[in-house]
Amino acid sequence: KPIQPPDFTKCGDARESTTGDLLDLNCCPPVSDSGFVDYKLPGVSRLRRRRAAYDMSPTQLGQYEEAMRRMRALDETDPDDPRGFTQQANIHCAYCNGAHDQLGYPCLDLSVHYSWIFFPFHRWYLYFFERILGSLIDDPDFALPYWNWDNPRGMQFPAIFNNPNSPLYDSFRNQKHVPPAIASLILRNEATDPTQIISENLSIMYNEMIGGVNSAVEFMGQPYRAGDQVPPMSLGGTLERGSHIAIHAWVGDPDKPYNEDLGNFYSAARDPVFFAHHSNVDRLWAIWQGIKTKYQKTILDRDYLDASFLFYDENKQLVRVKAGDCDTSQPEYQPQCTPSHGPDSCGQ
Ligand code: C2O
Repeated sequence: KPIQPPDFTKCGDARESTTGDLLDLNCCPPVSDSGFVDYKLPGVSRLRRRRAAYDMSPTQLGQYEEAMRRMRALDETDPDDPRGFTQQANIHCAYCNGAHDQLGYPCLDLSVHYSWIFFPFHRWYLYFFERILGSLIDDPDFALPYWNWDNPRGMQFPAIFNNPNSPLYDSFRNQKHVPPAIASLILRNEATDPTQIISENLSIMYNEMIGGVNSAVEFMGQPYRAGDQVPPMSLGGTLERGSHIAIHAWVGDPDKPYNEDLGNFYSAARDPVFFAHHSNVDRLWAIWQGIKTKYQKTILDRDYLDASFLFYDENKQLVRVKAGDCDTSQPEYQPQCTPSHGPDSCGQ
């Protein structure tokens, strides 16, 4: 049986995931009076194009900052507005720190890490976050930037997030890891020589994407089905366990009790760079799917395809989405086209 979406009315305490400590916060989402509906992919006439964070034009950056400013302002005007920044950040806490139980299993926490639902869950999460930002500035083309730490040009902390006067800033970060420091994709690496770090990073990327992977679940993560225990880290895919976690820990503040913000599941999405970090994870999923290999890239197990989650969309409507519906490698994946725009306008 596939993982079912949680019942928001039963959401409870969140715990720190490694120690089990009770966290002093309520990260439960607002309850929707009208329940949820199944999400329908809207018609698409143009693709949104995500860019590397170092490559945004001043205009694009200005729009991104304005959208984030408006999203943060919603926290003040209505803390229960699911589009507000704190509510958006809390989604990560609720789905990752045991606030949600698995539907029908009151003693089992729901967890979206270290299994095959990691990529689809985070893709949907970014998808709605991006649509909300776009709708707050009325820009249907708005696209998140990605932090391409897999490429030497992107291996520093992205400068656009390091301006204290910007809504993209977060003060809970390791202040030694601002530019020109080079991020290491090895967890808590002590190396300081940039040339060495870059060459280590490139071999990590090769191993996680190609050399160390012989099946789809080795990259994506092992099966996680209804009734299963919270998966341990060892069941996660190569990229999730490796470079992805290393970046989280590298950015978080080592002087905070739990390496906040980016370095802990419960607080990670309070740092706006979380969404650029995960845009890159999302991009690397697509790149991996495009690499020709002897093994099959597509997981056809219904328990993967039908695993489902709930999110609020840009109209504050609670919607249910399925893992398989955002996996572009699926044979049944059909981009929705607006007929009047002709064939090249097809997109996801
Ligand atoms: Cu849900 Cu990078 O983690």
